Amino acid sequence: MAVDFKSSETKDNLMRAFAGESQARNRYTFAAGVAKQQKQQAIGQVFIFTADQEKEHAEIFYNHLKELAGENIHIDGAYPVDLTDDLAKLLRMAQHNEYEEHDDVYKNFGDKAKEEGFMKVANSFYMIAEIEKFHGDRFGKFAEYLEQNKLFISDVKTGWICLNCGYIYEGEKAPEICPVCEHDQGYFIRLELSPFAEGGK
Ligand SMILES: [Fe+2]
Ligand SMILES: [Fe+2]
Repeated sequence: MAVDFKSSETKDNLMRAFAGESQARNRYTFAAGVAKQQKQQAIGQVFIFTADQEKEHAEIFYNHLKELAGENIHIDGAYPVDLTDDLAKLLRMAQHNEYEEHDDVYKNFGDKAKEEGFMKVANSFYMIAEIEKFHGDRFGKFAEYLEQNKLFISDVKTGWICLNCGYIYEGEKAPEICPVCEHDQGYFIRLELSPFAEGGK
């Protein structure tokens, strides 16, 4: 059943999604600050990398509201208080929120948009829902490494890249200090988990 956009639930859901993405971007930026304070630079970059993508999601949802330019949209919603200095917990909280968007929120928003006749909006919800699954998986992976004390230790020989200077080390353990730029271990990340890894391992 086609619905007038102005009286649709979809315009509310778009504003909810815009609010959610905007907050996620800030939460991840704050979390990156916590990571940096704890000298976990690579985890900080994982949060920043994701925060930048949440900004793009926010923009995509916001742009769907163009027709209502100049108006206000009143929404309600529940948003998480993800405050802790425990990095593993911050990663787990982020993972939880990403999965909630993927499994529940954006799928429902997509279905509603489809039902109301806004296919383009529905596609944005469905496609971004899939991205949030990857976000959740990535946060979960880093949480697991931290929890198991394996962030810089691997069971098998692997590549480690220093995110500061690009030095690549092959071994079971990331160097404690980068031999090239002398930045500390927190800059190292498994090569296959770094953005732009050439082929990975
Ligand atoms: Fe997002
Ligand atoms: Fe996300």
